[in-house]
Amino acid sequence: MDNTYPLHDIDYGTPRSDSEKTVTLQIDGFEVTVPQGTSLMRAAVSAGTQIPKLCATDSLEPFGSCRLCLVEIEGRKGFPASCTTPAEAGMVVRTQTPRLAELRRGVMELYISDHPLDCLTCPTNGDCELQDMAGAVGLRDVRYGYQGLNHLKDQADTSNPYFTYDPSKCIVCNRCVRACEETQGTFALTISGRGFESRVSAGESQSFMDSECVSCGACVNVCPTATLMEKTVIDAGQPDHSVLTTCAYCGVGCGFKAEMKGSEVVRMTPWKDGKANEGHACIKGRFAWGYATHKDRILKPMIRKHITDPWQEVSWETAINHAASEFRRIQAESGVDSIGGITSSRCTNEETYLVQKLVRAAFRNNNVDTCARVCHSPTGYGLGQTYGTSAGTQTFKSVEKADVVMVIGANPTDAHPVFASRLKRRLRAGARLIVVDPRSIDLVSSPHIKADYHLQLRPGTNVAIINALAHVIVTEGLLAQKFVDERCDVEAFKVWREFVARPNNSPEALEIMTGVPAAMVREAARLYATGGNGAIYYGLGVTEHAQGSTMVIGIANLAMATGNIGREGVGVNPLRGQNNVQGSCDMGSFPHEYPGYRHVSDDATRTLFEKDWGLSLRKEPGLRIPNMFEAALDGSFKGLYCQGEDIVQSDPNTQHVTAALEAMECIVVQDLFLNETAKYAHVFLPGSSFLEKEGTFTNAERRISRVRKVMAPKAGMADWEVTVALSNALGYPMHYSDPSEIMDEVARLTPTFAGVNYDKLDRLGSVQWPCNDAMPEGTPLMHIDHFVRGKGRFLITQYVPTDEKITPKFPLLLTTGRILSQYNVGAQTRRTDNVRFHEEDRLDIHPQDAEERGIHEGDWVGISSRAGDTVLRARVTERMQPGVVYTTFHFPESGANVITTENSDWATNCPEYKVTAVQVVKVKHSSEWQENYRQFNETQLRLLKEKVVTEAVTR
Ligand code: SF4
Ligand code: SF4
Ligand code: SF4
Ligand code: FES
Repeated sequence: MDNTYPLHDIDYGTPRSDSEKTVTLQIDGFEVTVPQGTSLMRAAVSAGTQIPKLCATDSLEPFGSCRLCLVEIEGRKGFPASCTTPAEAGMVVRTQTPRLAELRRGVMELYISDHPLDCLTCPTNGDCELQDMAGAVGLRDVRYGYQGLNHLKDQADTSNPYFTYDPSKCIVCNRCVRACEETQGTFALTISGRGFESRVSAGESQSFMDSECVSCGACVNVCPTATLMEKTVIDAGQPDHSVLTTCAYCGVGCGFKAEMKGSEVVRMTPWKDGKANEGHACIKGRFAWGYATHKDRILKPMIRKHITDPWQEVSWETAINHAASEFRRIQAESGVDSIGGITSSRCTNEETYLVQKLVRAAFRNNNVDTCARVCHSPTGYGLGQTYGTSAGTQTFKSVEKADVVMVIGANPTDAHPVFASRLKRRLRAGARLIVVDPRSIDLVSSPHIKADYHLQLRPGTNVAIINALAHVIVTEGLLAQKFVDERCDVEAFKVWREFVARPNNSPEALEIMTGVPAAMVREAARLYATGGNGAIYYGLGVTEHAQGSTMVIGIANLAMATGNIGREGVGVNPLRGQNNVQGSCDMGSFPHEYPGYRHVSDDATRTLFEKDWGLSLRKEPGLRIPNMFEAALDGSFKGLYCQGEDIVQSDPNTQHVTAALEAMECIVVQDLFLNETAKYAHVFLPGSSFLEKEGTFTNAERRISRVRKVMAPKAGMADWEVTVALSNALGYPMHYSDPSEIMDEVARLTPTFAGVNYDKLDRLGSVQWPCNDAMPEGTPLMHIDHFVRGKGRFLITQYVPTDEKITPKFPLLLTTGRILSQYNVGAQTRRTDNVRFHEEDRLDIHPQDAEERGIHEGDWVGISSRAGDTVLRARVTERMQPGVVYTTFHFPESGANVITTENSDWATNCPEYKVTAVQVVKVKHSSEWQENYRQFNETQLRLLKEKVVTEAVTR
């Protein structure tokens, strides 16, 4: 299959106009019709002419500074810049005349006279717009010579691990500054000095590394010279081909061009036509891909009898046969339900589908679950119950039409950065913002953005806040009654209305619990209900609670009550954490559901799968992950196939998890690295990175995008082939020759995917499900005329305070989250230079709480909960409210999940990560758990190092 894609995209010079009106004009004798508002520069490209340019590029608003793009317009004096001049009906434009050529050469002469003449050895040689323009304008000589004042000796800033800034090559076109402002929204760059002294500067003349820069790479992308340049290109040289693929980090699902030299990635460039990102990226997808070739990768299968034994390196065949025979032995001894599998939200849809099929068809039970259990399972439940489908309602682009945005329990600038940039653009353009979060996240106050209301609630009181907001909307007559009457179950609505109108749901009554001033809640509710299009975006701060599902339902109720569903600019949008968490849920990873969210007890669905798979299937739901642990400790669950998931580090109450794993007899881990779970494994099957596989990911917008192989699987087998081999060894043959055939099977068996196939994805770039005969090109917007379930259903959301309460012994509340440069358990990002941005997990604590405990910035502090103890260094910050502390969970030795408890959501068992009662004290030593971890880890690394090679690897 030829996966290649053009290395260079057409640059239209200025952004597209969305106007529906058109104008027709003449350019160089050709008639051209373009949308009103299109620049002459862009119109010229439509007419087949590239006007020379330097300061313009089509991802940025025109700036008009370089004066290279001059044109002549009949009937007008002078030489207007084509980038800043809109096309008008009837215009007659000339882009190539002797006078224009002379003017352009003059401009280029000035640029070149202050630019190093090292083209042949420059890393951008052949990919430099300055070089191209010199050629385009026919510059042959520089009359001023090169001896005058210049910047040729300016020193390069190489502080950023991923790109350099070499001011000697800068033409001060301002593109980078504008990219940082317009595209990324960080405002880290300025042009300091005037005239000849003008230079690009990060912050107050800081190095890039010390500045506010978040390494998104937008400035590097637009730089027309080698001034801002990826270090990988400097080292490896220009790429020779590129392949389109999809980022394997977060749920934004950015499209990328993997730019290659042979089978080596030279750089990852955000894909201009990727609908989720439209040419933007963040530090993770853009730069942190080096883990794929990291020396820690394990490329040979391994087995061992006990976790205290050294590993034995074996062939694929031996490893797979061993895993299969162990699983069959366990089932023969302990029953068919004694084993199960865990699918991964980092793997493709096709791989995930196969793992759940393996469990249902080859294991012959429904003991399959996924890491979505610990993040967005309440979204599935809550939106399923109210709207009839378990997914976000909008495209990311829809936020451009929002007038009021409510962000609840999400931190997009860190966890969903490319969406955050889009959101910030809309906020700078005037949309209003309500933030509901215990912490002062960046969105509350950042350059040119200030939240109108920050409802800084106490952790665990989400449902109280959503009820209080609903109370104001109902009692102050702010309901969208027409929408409710037409679109919703009116009886259920009346019950809900009576419930939220009760005085005990008023902001005043709940203020004591939430800690949010009632007046602010009232104003925020009025703004959301009456401010125009209201859009809600939420994250794990909503779902990872004892009442996670209740809160999702509360959000869904609020959107229905205000009519904010079914059109652009509104909606309920879960921001999914991992790249394919939507897809892993869609593909039937939960123990009670087949692909497409159909219950295993549904006879018609089960019959469909039975016919296709050629065997009878169980109708009772299987075990969820926490139930698997309980059963392991009870002695009834003994074997686990865990693909691409590190449950030891990511699941709550680590000591409980490791005790469960130690109680099992055969744990098969398929992963890139010896992760924390693999240290408890008996069989290790090497996994492949996203660069080594064909398949699809589904992002938080339900957008299915292709993942394309740019290099052969380093361990010899792709992940889907490994699952197929395991199934075959277990006696349930699977026959696929390509992942596209797996997707064809998904489409055959799943109505919402019926129209999905690789040809369509290649043709359209991506599609959003449902995609079937009714919506052959996918469904960007859900619930337009009616809800998926018919009438929208309001449900009662009684606030029940969590059992996890502060006590004199544990007087603070711990909440956990993520940081921009690290991803989830950090297995990938810790193996890149991203560690330079975040090298350890720290405990954020309010100055008041720190002072009471004699804690200063950087002190080691012990954190204890009823589940366990760990030790981290403190960061004293006013981002926290008094009484609340916060940490991330990216480093295994931190043991953040040693502290979190097994409390969970009542409906889905999603852990209550966001509320743990803790005590924090200054300490000098690491915790007992950390000491034990250190020893265990050392032993496991030694056992890996001492691995025994018992046979030649045959495949
Ligand atoms: S660094 Fe690049 S983009 Fe920025 S002003 Fe200089 S040449 Fe232009
Ligand atoms: S990398 Fe991103 S944040 Fe940093 S200066 Fe460039 S555009 Fe701004
Ligand atoms: S925003 Fe998410 S999907 Fe996009 S580049 Fe960053 S990590 Fe990848
Ligand atoms: S490209 Fe138009 S002025 Fe620079």
